[in-house]
Amino acid sequence: MKIFTTRENLHNYLDERRLNNKTIGLVPTMGALHNGHLSLLDFAKSQTDEVVCSIFVNPTQFTDPTDLEKYPRPIESDIKKLESAGCDVLFNPPVSEMYTANETWHLNIGHLEHLLEGAIRPGHYQGVTQIVSKLFNLIEPDIAFFGQKDYQQVLVIDKMVQLLNMKVKVVMCPIVREDGGLAMSSRNVYLNAADREHALVLSKALNLAKEQFAHHTFTELTNLATDFINTEPGVKLDYFEIADGDSLYPATPLSKKIVALVAARVGNTRLIDNVILS
Ligand code: PAF
Repeated sequence: MKIFTTRENLHNYLDERRLNNKTIGLVPTMGALHNGHLSLLDFAKSQTDEVVCSIFVNPTQFTDPTDLEKYPRPIESDIKKLESAGCDVLFNPPVSEMYTANETWHLNIGHLEHLLEGAIRPGHYQGVTQIVSKLFNLIEPDIAFFGQKDYQQVLVIDKMVQLLNMKVKVVMCPIVREDGGLAMSSRNVYLNAADREHALVLSKALNLAKEQFAHHTFTELTNLATDFINTEPGVKLDYFEIADGDSLYPATPLSKKIVALVAARVGNTRLIDNVILS
């Protein structure tokens, strides 16, 4: 696996690959890689010739400085995982390579960045679109792969690509879960044994909503899932929403795609999860 830390070296390398008619796949990550990330790599390998994984803990998408400071950065073990997974290129730049000292610009992609996660973490998606647009401009991938666990993020990035007429195709890959159903996340390392038990209520509530989908109204389903989560100790619910899968506004009977999204604090760790209901 080739490892680049500068934009220039990565760019020169990828230009050469493109001249050889290779298609480029991008898996953007913030590291602390788990099987969810590795499944994105597998998708990328099956659909493109040259797979680039970026590891960059993006400071502008963190709304809490302590969260940024303590974010896991196990780069040596990440490199081993990428090598065993057959990744072609790792791009692991320092912050100074991606940002000048004081960047205040942001993209305005409309309502999607302000709902749900955007409401709880104002500015988060502006940071995400800032870094992802920089990565897309630099790497010019044919296809970029993102996990469904961050469902809203995928919609936000899709919208950005659409608004800026970018050529990249955005692919959303299924959530990978641990044995009990907990969605894989780099933040799961923060959970102690009791938190892990409590956290299972989130995927169980989503399954409950899926099972009961045909038998209840959206409000009934939301109440059912919310009550179920609220009985679990150690879990503080931020939201459980049944939303239109394209706009993320509350679902209506006219919604073509419907998704249930949940976010909660389990112990000191904030977790999100979702399931596509129809
Ligand atoms: O999903 C993530 O890990 C990050 O939000 C991303 C897309 C790599 C941007 O920093």
